Amino acid sequence: MNRQKRRTGRRHPLATVALLAIGLIFTGGAYAALSAGTTAQAETDLTSQQTIDEGKKLFQANCATCHGLSGEGTGTGPSLVGVGAASVDFQVGTGRMPMQMQGPQAQVKPVQFTDEQILQLAAFVASLGPGPSIPPAHLVDGGGDAANGAELFRINCAMCHNVAGAGGALTEGKFAPALTETSGVHIYEAMVTGPQNMPVFSDMNISPEDKRDIITYLKYVQDNRSPGGFELGSLGPVAEGLFIWIFGLGAIVAITVWITAKSN
Ligand code: HEC
Ligand code: HEC
Repeated sequence: MNRQKRRTGRRHPLATVALLAIGLIFTGGAYAALSAGTTAQAETDLTSQQTIDEGKKLFQANCATCHGLSGEGTGTGPSLVGVGAASVDFQVGTGRMPMQMQGPQAQVKPVQFTDEQILQLAAFVASLGPGPSIPPAHLVDGGGDAANGAELFRINCAMCHNVAGAGGALTEGKFAPALTETSGVHIYEAMVTGPQNMPVFSDMNISPEDKRDIITYLKYVQDNRSPGGFELGSLGPVAEGLFIWIFGLGAIVAITVWITAKSN
């Protein structure tokens, strides 16, 4: 009797395995369905007429006041013929465009369009004339050579953006922003489009593989922000020397004053 009860209360040993298998199949299936959805979106065909038409509508409603109905430019915004999909993805994807206020430099604001809308706008602008395209995923994955990237960054970028990518001031109210939050795609696009005061780094200057290495280095910096202690702006020995000069010497003077005051 007792035994009988226990038997019915107990599941078949394979039941757990079967349940697990069913669960795994379900989650796996759901994941596959979802990720298929997202890759389909990421691969929005920038050359399809439908995408371009959608982009044109968005452009005429949001950008044409400054850039002209066909992106030909006006007194308040430059021509976008030939700036390419990369420039639009960068400018709109970082919240610089649509511009709200004229100033020394386009301000970074919350992004105002969905990823799909940004791609549609990019497709429309790309259809106006050939220009740099949005980089493929394998060049912005951060899987390159960080040491080579660090060297290239030091030579080509650090004079404006600081060795640790902390950013820095330029003349006339302009500045090179910190690169501590920027995504791989946007770093790549900044290099090929050269926003405002930043030079363009064509593939002749810095090859796509080297750009990948620079991104790898910056991602490394982003993931390993400061090993501890005060960075003092990562400016190097001058800032560190100044710090010890002011605070170290100050402390010694304070202690001396305190000791002499006590002995009196
Ligand atoms: C209020 C005016 C204004 C509006 C609205 C505006 N822009 Fe701009 N845009 C500018 C100005 C001025 C510049 C050049 C200076 C700069 O980059 O800050 C510019 C630059 C750009 C560039 C960089 C061009 C290059 O040489 O690489 C792109 C791309 C761009 N805009 C796209 C857009 C898109 C897309 C929209 C709509 C979503 C938009 N802009 C809305 C004024 C505007
Ligand atoms: C002459 C100075 C200068 C040099 C050299 C330079 N940049 Fe820039 N960079 C700028 C300025 C100025 C901006 C801001 C432009 C704007 O806001 O429109 C900028 C913007 C950027 C951005 C966008 C950041 C964000 O989050 O919005 C990235 C990424 C970037 N630079 C990467 C690089 C890399 C990588 C190099 C070297 C290959 C480099 N820059 C070299 C001046 C420079």
